[in-house]
Amino acid sequence: MKVLKIAVLSIVALGLIFSFAFAADVAKGKTLFNDTKFGGGTSGKSCNSCHKDGSGIDAAKKEFMGGKAKSLEAAVNMCIEMMMKGKAIDAKSADMANITAYIKSLKGK
Ligand code: HEC
Repeated sequence: MKVLKIAVLSIVALGLIFSFAFAADVAKGKTLFNDTKFGGGTSGKSCNSCHKDGSGIDAAKKEFMGGKAKSLEAAVNMCIEMMMKGKAIDAKSADMANITAYIKSLKGK
C-alpha cells in the first residue's frame, strides 16, 4: 500500500509541476496581441489594430472565419499570415497558448 501511495503522490506532484510550467499566461498573450511583429508580422499592424480589445472575435465559437478555420488557433494563424503578413506559428507553442488564453479572457467584451 505504501508503494501505491508514493506512486499516486508522485503523479499528483508531477501533474502540478507540469501544469505550472505550461499554464497559459494571459498577460504575455496581451503583449503578443499588441505586438506588430508577432509571428514575424510586417504589415505594421498588431491584432489589436483590427480587433481592439478583442472586437470581432467570439472565442466561444466552434468555427471561425465563416467555417474556414476549424479552431481558434487556426483563425489566429490565418490572421497572422493574411492580415499581418507574418508566418503561422506552432499551434502547440507557448505563444499560441498565451494569445488564445488572452483572447478567451476578453469573452463578452
Ligand atoms: C488587418 C486587420 C486584421 C489584423 C491585423 C488581424 N485580424 Fe483577425 N480578423 C480580421 C478580419 C477582417 C476577420 C474576419 C474574417 C472573416 O470572418 O472571414 C478576422 C478574424 C479573426 C478571427 C476569427 C473571428 C471569427 O469570429 O470568425 C480571429 C480569432 C482573429 N481574427 C484573431 C486575430 C489575431 C489573434 C490577430 C493577431 C495575430 C489578428 N486577428 C490580426 C482582421 C484582422
